[in-house]
Amino acid sequence: MIIILVYCAILEVSFLGGRNTTTVKVNAVHHWNDTLFSFKTTRKPSMTFENGQFVMIGLQVNDRPLLRAYSIASPNYADELEFFSIKVPDGALTSRLQHLKVGDELLVTSKPTGTLVPGQLLNGKHLYLLSTGTGLAPFMSVIQDPFIYDQYDRVIVVHGTRWISELAYQSFICDELPKNEYFGDIVAKKLVYYPTVTREAYMFRDRKHVGRITQLLSSGLLARNVGLPPINPEDDRFMLCGNDAMLKDLMKILDDRGFKKANSRNQGHYVIEQAFIEK
Ligand SMILES: Cc1cc2nc3c(=O)[nH]c(=O)nc-3n(C[C@H](O)[C@H](O)[C@H](O)COP(=O)(O)OP(=O)(O)OC[C@H]3O[C@@H](n4cnc5c(N)ncnc54)[C@H](O)[C@@H]3O)c2cc1C
Ligand SMILES: NC(=O)c1ccc[n+]([C@@H]2O[C@H](COP(=O)([O-])OP(=O)(O)OC[C@H]3O[C@@H](n4cnc5c(N)ncnc54)[C@H](OP(=O)(O)O)[C@@H]3O)[C@@H](O)[C@H]2O)c1
Repeated sequence: MIIILVYCAILEVSFLGGRNTTTVKVNAVHHWNDTLFSFKTTRKPSMTFENGQFVMIGLQVNDRPLLRAYSIASPNYADELEFFSIKVPDGALTSRLQHLKVGDELLVTSKPTGTLVPGQLLNGKHLYLLSTGTGLAPFMSVIQDPFIYDQYDRVIVVHGTRWISELAYQSFICDELPKNEYFGDIVAKKLVYYPTVTREAYMFRDRKHVGRITQLLSSGLLARNVGLPPINPEDDRFMLCGNDAMLKDLMKILDDRGFKKANSRNQGHYVIEQAFIEK
């Protein structure tokens, strides 16, 4: 009996990657469409993180924790945690998670982690945050960091989706954040939002905003449309998050132009979530 209990305890620890979980409560849930939703939870004051990092979150299923990696979409000074989630119809976690209600409990690992953080980047002038789908989540945290606007002349957040209905957080980014009572002025001057849709026609501020991020970047259209010079390793820094194929293609485009990826030892011109690439 003792041997079985010890074995179960070891399995539990390895399943959680040796990390402790805490329980938080759901404060709000917002469904963007049939495939995407966001939710806010309470936050333990002891939980600190860098904007852009992720945690494991989940639910008790059959008396076992079922956890998945999630970027924290809220900034590190907020009282609540926010997450932006896909709803995978047969997904082990999200088929359940999408039914979260206010007051429900959620498991969250206590120690956020991850390499997709601005501190991995060498100094630069322009910060491009390139995302597809829920890959926008870590950048929601980064663009709410007032210090990022001290470090860069321009912060360009690009969100690529298949459909217009997937352009979550658009009104928060365009309307609410520039009115933030503490740093709205600087956001209004420096933050550029660039949505792009791949499977239907889309106009944003009287201009076509369509096509894959890879095409927009390699053709030079993105830089031109946001009023910046062609991308170059001297001035431009990139954070990349989202679709696996997109990440690989973007890294090739950047590598071919002389940009260097940050790694655990050295800062670089661009950064990705290493855990995501290695998953
Ligand atoms: C470092 C890291 C951070 C992540 N952050 C987020 C996040 O902030 N929000 C989020 O929704 N997911 C995020 N994910 C993915 C997340 O961990 C789960 O895969 C997702 O919640 C689905 O879990 P599941 O058990 O329902 O299905 P799974 O069995 O995990 O996935 C089933 C399939 O669904 C597809 N899929 C999974 N996640 C997504 C997604 N987000 N968008 C499109 N297709 C997907 C994949 O094809 C996958 O094989 C992250 C993953 C990593 C590694
Ligand atoms: N911290 C993290 O690492 C983190 C955080 C959040 C999410 N994520 C991950 O982000 C991913 C989000 O899913 P997703 O982006 O696949 O969502 P999605 O909603 O499926 O996004 C698809 C978009 O990416 C485009 N795309 C596909 N392949 C491409 C390529 N090779 N080059 C350029 N664009 C390409 C698609 O264009 P077409 O319509 O032309 O195909 C479409 O517009 C998930 O895998 C999730 O796990 C990671």
